[in-house]
Formats: sequence, C-alpha cells, structure tokens
Amino acid sequence: MRKIYIFDTTLRDGEQSPGVNLNMQEKVEIALQLEKLGIDRIEAGFPAASPGDLAGVNAVARAVKNASIIGLARSREQDIEAVREALQGAQDPCIHLFLATSPIHRKHKLRMEKHEVLERAEAAIRYAKKYFDKVEFSPEDAGRTELDFLCEVTAMAIRAGATVVNIPDTVGYLNPSEFGNIFKTLKENVPGIEKIQLSAHCHDDLGMATANALAAVLNGADQIEGTINGIGERAGNTSLEEVVMALETRHDYFQAKTSLVLGEIARTSRLVSKLTGMPVPGNKAIVGANAFAHESGIHQDGMLKEKTTYEIMSPEMIGLKDSKLVLGKHSGRHAFREKLVDLGYVLGDEQVNAAFAKFKDLADKKKNVTDEDIRALIEEKLIETPEVFVLDTIQLTYGNQSVPTATIRVTTIEGGSAEEAAVGNGSVDAIYKAIDKVTNEEVELEDYSIKSVTHGKDALGEVHVVMRQGEYSVQGRGVSTDILEASARAYIDAINRLIEKRKSPARSSRDNVTLI
Ligand code: KIV
Ligand code: ZN
Repeated sequence: MRKIYIFDTTLRDGEQSPGVNLNMQEKVEIALQLEKLGIDRIEAGFPAASPGDLAGVNAVARAVKNASIIGLARSREQDIEAVREALQGAQDPCIHLFLATSPIHRKHKLRMEKHEVLERAEAAIRYAKKYFDKVEFSPEDAGRTELDFLCEVTAMAIRAGATVVNIPDTVGYLNPSEFGNIFKTLKENVPGIEKIQLSAHCHDDLGMATANALAAVLNGADQIEGTINGIGERAGNTSLEEVVMALETRHDYFQAKTSLVLGEIARTSRLVSKLTGMPVPGNKAIVGANAFAHESGIHQDGMLKEKTTYEIMSPEMIGLKDSKLVLGKHSGRHAFREKLVDLGYVLGDEQVNAAFAKFKDLADKKKNVTDEDIRALIEEKLIETPEVFVLDTIQLTYGNQSVPTATIRVTTIEGGSAEEAAVGNGSVDAIYKAIDKVTNEEVELEDYSIKSVTHGKDALGEVHVVMRQGEYSVQGRGVSTDILEASARAYIDAINRLIEKRKSPARSSRDNVTLI
C-alpha cells in the first residue's frame, strides 16, 4: 500500500482565516498536537510576513522533534533568509517557495512574462538549495495555469533542485477530473518526475477540496496539503481529517494510506477549534458533533442490530469514547484525576488542584458534569497568560424597560482591586464598558460568539471574543454556567493577552504583506 505524506498548513494557510490570530504559545501547542497526530510535515508560518511570524516558526521548529518543519517564502532572497533564520534548531527543516504561474496572475499581479516567471523561480530554488536539502516549490494558481507551461515550470523546478512540487488549486476552481488530469499529465510528460514528490494543495471555494485531493492521490500524488477542520482563506483548505479517513475507510479503493495516529483526530480538531475560535459545524464530516449521531428510528434500530448498517467508521477510531463515568458533586479528587487521565490530560499536581476546585464549583451548580464540561474547564486556560486582571465580582441590573447597568470588580496582579460601573445598550455591552473602564483599556470588539458546551438548561456557556487595539488583534475565551459571566471572563482574558502582546515588540499582523 502506497504511503501518502500529510502536510499540515493549519498554522500558515489556516491562520490566514479571517479573525484567526494565534500567539506563539498557541502555535506551539497546536504543533505539538499535530506531532502527536503523526503529521509528516508541518508548515509553521510565513517568516518574512512579520517578526512575530518568524518567532512563531522558530518556536515550533525548536519544540517539534518528529515532523519536518516548513517555512513559506516568496521567490525572493530576503524571504529565503527569513526562513533560514526561523528554521534554526529544526530537526528536519524544509523551505516552501512559491510564485504564481497562471495567465491571470502573470498579467495582473506579477506583470511578468512566462520566461521571467521561470527565471525568477529558478533563481529562488537555486538560492534556497544553498541552505536547504528539502525545497518544495509551488506554482501558485497552478489550477488555472496552461498545462504545457505547468509541465515546463515543473521540469525547471526539478532541474533546479526542488524535492517536492506542489500543485495548488489556489482559488478552488477545478473539479476532480480536471485536477486529477494535471497529476496524470505531469507524471507522463515531465522528465525526471520520478525523482521528486508531487503534492496537492486545494481550496474549498466550490466545496470540492477533499474530492480534488483524493483525485490527485488516484493520479499519483505523494503528498496532500490541508488543514485541521478545513480552516483557511475564504472557504478554507482541504480538511485533512476527511482525506485521512477517506483513505483509511476506502483503502480498498485508493490503495494508499497515511501513517497518522487516527485516535488523535478528535482531540486535534477540538484544540484547533478552541485556539482559533473557529467552531466546527455540527454536520461537518468526521469531526462535527453529529458525525456519529443517529437520530431517526429506522437508523437507531439498524444500529442496535448491527452497527455497520449505518456506520462506515466508528467514533472510537478518531478518539471519541463513550464515557461510562459521569462525575457529580460527590465525586472525589481520585475519580476526578482518573477522569483527566481518561480524557488524555497530563497535568501537574498544581494544575490538577486548580482544575478540581473549578470542577467542585461547577458540580455545585450542575448535577452531572460531563466529559465536555471537564474539557471546557481545562481548556479555558490551556495557554497560560499572565493575569494582570482577574474577575472578582460582577453585578448587573437588567429589565426590558430599563437601561442595563454593570458593576465589575477585578483584582490586579499587584494584589490590589478596582471597581467600575457602566451602562450599555444591553447587558454584555454594559459589562464590556465597565471592564474597559476598570482596566483603563480602549479596544474595539471585532467578534463575539457564544455556544453551549453541552445540552440542557444548566449547560456551560463558552464565549469567544476577538478584539483589536491599533495593530494588535487578540482573542479571549471564557466559560461559565452563566453566559454573562462567561462573556466577562472572555473579555478580561483577551485584555490580559493584549497587555502581554504589547510588551513584545514583534508584530504578528500580516496585514501589510502581499503574497507576490
Ligand atoms: O493556495 C495557495 O496557492 C498557497 C500557496 C502559497 C501554496 O497557499
Ligand atoms: Zn493555499
């Protein structure tokens, strides 16, 4: 069975999703989970985009031991130098160069003739080869590039020393037979093609990214690029979990497999969703909350008689377990610790104690504390940010005929406390204005979302916010049985992250960088 290499670009193309802005710790956390998942190659960022990106790639390069770490670069010497610096300390470094090749990009974006594109790409590959054994080259917008020119570009890349040629359907325009045909044509016509690996990089604008990636496999692709949960620019990238489970479930048909640790899929999906703040739709293939739920009576009857009647994969395969042990207010520290181990959390004594206190607090408000509740409690503070402000008390007056008023008291890192009140259009607005006053910060709220962690009236509410102050954009999360308290926690979390980010001179915004 042929091995298909998996190239994860959650931290680069995925981070280009609107509103997603991961800090260094979050990138490392995701990268370490990708390593556990058995990802072969991790694209950690675009070092030339900003000092923050460079530092993030470097932190990932130093933390990950069992995957190749990749940095993206335009076909320019400064970008290649930035990747070189960022990948210091990587066990298995690789550079990913790109230059657009399609007529539309050549004419309007690059204003270059075909021969100039060939020359610039070749010079960049040869320059990169001085420092890197592994060089991947992407003819951007390959999907809309003339096939004969794409063959010429690929032949040039091989001669110049590329080890992987990646074929991006940058705008998600092609259908599976067209995309598959590109691979077939390259395999049949490009001299030296057997010396390199061919890779597929699809976008999901027409909902065909997974089908296109699989068509590439059928036509000889060695590597699939994509992101966890399919996040990315516009409609996103190929969902890696979909490709991997399709190859696993239908290996009889594809005659190809990956070496991923399938049991880590659910956990990776949850972590990426949590840290990026991008929710996974309930009906999302493989990792959606309903992906293994059977609602109709006929299906349930079939499932009870024989699971394979309606189940082509089991939830256990991707690491979803049916929990036998539900905790409540009488559960002790021992049962709680067992549960944490069962859920895969490796925590030190201090962290277990803090989590146990939170659990006890929750168990007082909620009869049954489910696995999802425990995950939400633990993952609320997955990344430790110095807490300059901690929510102490929150008081609200609300009536549908009166102006909502919030009073917020916080304790500060110096051990003091402060209190402020404010009115607003609604309760959340009043809370956020009071927090602005008490923290003395002026911020713009760019996004606010709320979801319930489990079902039922006493379910935990989880709030995610994105806020901006000038060039700095940060996210925050908060969890509570009370959605107004969760809202306040998320906002204060974001303010703490903002203060931390301002201290570091490295900007992480890529807003001013053009991909040419
Ligand atoms: O979609 C695309 O073309 C890309 C390239 C940078 C490979 O992400
Ligand atoms: Zn892309």
